[in-house]
Amino acid sequence: MSRLVFLLNGPNLNLLGKRQPHIYGHETLADVERDCQALAGELGIGLRFHQSNREYEIIDWIHEARDTAGGIVINPAAFTHTSVAILDALNTFDAPVIEIHISNVHKREAFRHHSFVSARADGVIAGFGTQGYQLALRRVARLIDEKAA
Ligand code: DQA
Repeated sequence: MSRLVFLLNGPNLNLLGKRQPHIYGHETLADVERDCQALAGELGIGLRFHQSNREYEIIDWIHEARDTAGGIVINPAAFTHTSVAILDALNTFDAPVIEIHISNVHKREAFRHHSFVSARADGVIAGFGTQGYQLALRRVARLIDEKAA
């Protein structure tokens, strides 16, 4: 089992820190990546961290993960609520998938309550702010360890 994890971020997350900080906080995506890389080092996993505003690019990374990665952490952002294509791609990936949302989507507009990705995710984290990324990484590392044992 590969100890490489793909951490994928969907649209508008490049604006983290500037975008609706009352909802998403003041940390930037670069801050999140730095903290995740440090934690990955502690956990003994490799980390590929990506963000895109384009659905196809996220799908292409999931396809790449099929051959190389032992787990995926994904914040699909708005694609969460719209993308059967990302769900289909994740359904071709045969290792742990953790879905993460910075905000508590269930406390927000009704259209954010449904996630296509949750039909595949092994776990979902929502509403823990950017700390959720660290929790998701710890969980995926644990699942990789359990599979290897
Ligand atoms: C989000 C929640 C989504 O509803 C929203 O479209 C996002 C970010 C979150 O991290 O809280 O862009 O995934």
